[in-house]
Amino acid sequence: MLHELGIAAALGLRWLHWIAVAAALYGVLRTAAAIWQSRAWAGSDAKTRLRPRTQASLRWLVGGAWLALGCAVAWPVVYAASVSGPQPPGVWASMALAAQGWFPSWSELGQWHPAWVSSWRPDAGVPPGSRALARGEQAAAWLGAAYLAGAGVVFARQASWRLAAAMVVVACLLLAPGTPRPELVLAPATPHTFRQPPTDFDAGRILAGARHYQQLCASCHGAKGRGDGPLAARQPRWPSVLGPALFEHRHAGDLHWSVRQGLGNGTEGKAGASHAYGAALSSQEAWNVLDYLRAGAAGAELADHPGWRQALPAPDMALRCARLPQVQRLRDLRGQRVRIHAAHAGTPPVMPDPRLIDVVLRPGDPLHGPPGSDVGWADCGVPDAVSAAAWQAYAWVAGREAAQLDGAQFLVDRGGWLRAYQAPGDTLAWSAPDTMCEPGEIAPDQRTGEGLSDTLQRIDAQPVRPPLFRARS
Ligand code: HEC
Repeated sequence: MLHELGIAAALGLRWLHWIAVAAALYGVLRTAAAIWQSRAWAGSDAKTRLRPRTQASLRWLVGGAWLALGCAVAWPVVYAASVSGPQPPGVWASMALAAQGWFPSWSELGQWHPAWVSSWRPDAGVPPGSRALARGEQAAAWLGAAYLAGAGVVFARQASWRLAAAMVVVACLLLAPGTPRPELVLAPATPHTFRQPPTDFDAGRILAGARHYQQLCASCHGAKGRGDGPLAARQPRWPSVLGPALFEHRHAGDLHWSVRQGLGNGTEGKAGASHAYGAALSSQEAWNVLDYLRAGAAGAELADHPGWRQALPAPDMALRCARLPQVQRLRDLRGQRVRIHAAHAGTPPVMPDPRLIDVVLRPGDPLHGPPGSDVGWADCGVPDAVSAAAWQAYAWVAGREAAQLDGAQFLVDRGGWLRAYQAPGDTLAWSAPDTMCEPGEIAPDQRTGEGLSDTLQRIDAQPVRPPLFRARS
């Protein structure tokens, strides 16, 4: 709720900015008209009559400009704060200073998530006490004071007050330290930095993304995103590895920008522009490709780590639940713990556990019996039409070939995040990282029942909070 209110406030400030610009323009026109009239009406009498009008017009001009400046700086800060969350003040301060001139395109004006104006964003990797950050804070405080004192210059009626306010403004500007170089406290950003995928992380979309990826991207980035496609060596720069590190250090919106608009925020020149696949991929299709890559990156993480270190939603899919008719999709089970079994029809049943909803994934392969409905011991199954896609998506997330997923289990927490994984044939234990960011431990033997209890306890005690800002590598 706070999040929506913040975005609404930022949008309001953005509109106020344009109203203020209009007021300033009105002031320009009025001032020009007054000057023109004073020329036409010669004589001192006319001049004294006109003087208050000229002054009022000037006040429109300067007042509008003053308000427009304030809004231009305030809205990006309010916006970034509400899409992300609390940050040390220095980050906001330096960002306000870095926010650059901004002109919206018409199509963007009414959008809920406006384009980001600055070529910089907060960088979670900057240590909170750093000197550059402190200098940014001080500079922002002095400049903010100068701005507020500017109100006196603009709106005070008496000349003496105006003079005093102007002196305060000058003093504040002189006392402000130089702002730190933005790259010391901020990370590069694109207009899409704070955009989020408009749709859920979903098995069907992941599969659709895989098809587009193989058609358009694999030639350079390689079939598995390892940067080893047949055209890789011919590129001016080696294509990026589209693995866990990329998703850890880049905002999803930036990757979306790289795919559709070209690499970087315009600083990469022609080489960057040639990476714009916006004509071949719609915005949604680009998100699908990124979801596919994200699933693959999660699988790659499991190769050298017991659990997923980066927060990953469980791929959504249609469900059929005999005892829960209101549940249509995995998403509808939010608020409950879910255990997903990748199991063929012949797989022996698992002891039901009152703490969990059991969901059975089966490949839509007629050889393995009618999938979906007759799950027997489990609470929910996956309808035939989507079971092959769901199986494949979970195989990618687990970093396995689809044929080798049989017997794997996944734990989904109440927030819908994938939290723990048990590899096929791994009777030892559930593996889940201690937190989403630190190396995990293997829990005790599951056969005693303690493994699962411990894992569930740990998962409930540490709900997932995806990072607000990513740390630049
Ligand atoms: C003609 C070769 C080529 C093709 C085709 C290609 N890329 Fe790239 N890609 C590159 C190169 C080169 C880089 C930049 C590496 C660097 O900056 O160091 C890159 C970088 C990226 C990045 C990283 C951007 C960042 O912010 O660091 C992503 C994500 C990406 N590509 C996704 C895709 C996707 C998705 C497709 C298919 C729609 C695709 N690429 C097609 C060559 C290619």
